[in-house]
Amino acid sequence: MRRIGCGFQTKQKYRFGWFSMKLKLVGGDSAGVVTAYYMCSDPGAGPERDELDFEFLGNRTGQPYTIQTNVYKNGVGGREMRHMLWFDPTEDFHTYSVLWNNHQIIFFVDRVPIRVYKNTEKSNNFFPNEKPMWIFSSIWNADDWATRGGLEKTDWKKAPFVSSYKDFSVDGCQWEDPYPACVSTTTQNWWDQYEAWHLSDSQKEDYAWVQRNLVIYDYCKDTQRYLEQPWECSISPWD
Ligand SMILES: *[C@@H]1O[C@H](CO)[C@@H](O)[C@H](O)[C@H]1NC(C)=O
Repeated sequence: MRRIGCGFQTKQKYRFGWFSMKLKLVGGDSAGVVTAYYMCSDPGAGPERDELDFEFLGNRTGQPYTIQTNVYKNGVGGREMRHMLWFDPTEDFHTYSVLWNNHQIIFFVDRVPIRVYKNTEKSNNFFPNEKPMWIFSSIWNADDWATRGGLEKTDWKKAPFVSSYKDFSVDGCQWEDPYPACVSTTTQNWWDQYEAWHLSDSQKEDYAWVQRNLVIYDYCKDTQRYLEQPWECSISPWD
């Protein structure tokens, strides 16, 4: 595999908020190419990092993209979900957003909640809520795993592979070093208020539709990989 790619990151880091970007992904033959849009507490991807990922896995011309999301805490991940999309993400810009507060993390596509990740509020919980994160995006070659498990290789004759971005927006708590800012969750901001602790009724409808129609992998249901279900899987996203 050729290790090659590029990316960019925010100057500021944040703890909790609403983070949103429009992306238009590599079209045509994008097999092996991954575009990522993520939040991470360590720009060097160090072993103790927290991370919230959107990863767009390319495919052969005419074959569907899949979107993979993942959550890391203190360097431990393995919380993958994969979804099909209900549109071709290479034809136009679509909005990909994360809502992050101390109660839940929601991954949105065009304001539709595709994944809800709850804080179990237990002492041993697996919920990244301590470290501020920067926002990153990158595009790289991952043809050892990305498309059909690595069977489909990047066709370098199709290079360059280009993803486009616009309308980046943050409504969150900006962290100021060295004093730990954003320490207590206030209820001053909409993304921190009670309404943002749960799905709304209309969000529940959208989420149910996604669950029925678009989920292709859920680590919570992978009993071969996890003999014991990770604890956070038992928390209902409906509460
Ligand atoms: C690529 O297309 C194939 C064939 O339709 C499909 O099985 C696969 O899930 C798609 N996506 C990835 C990331 O392999």
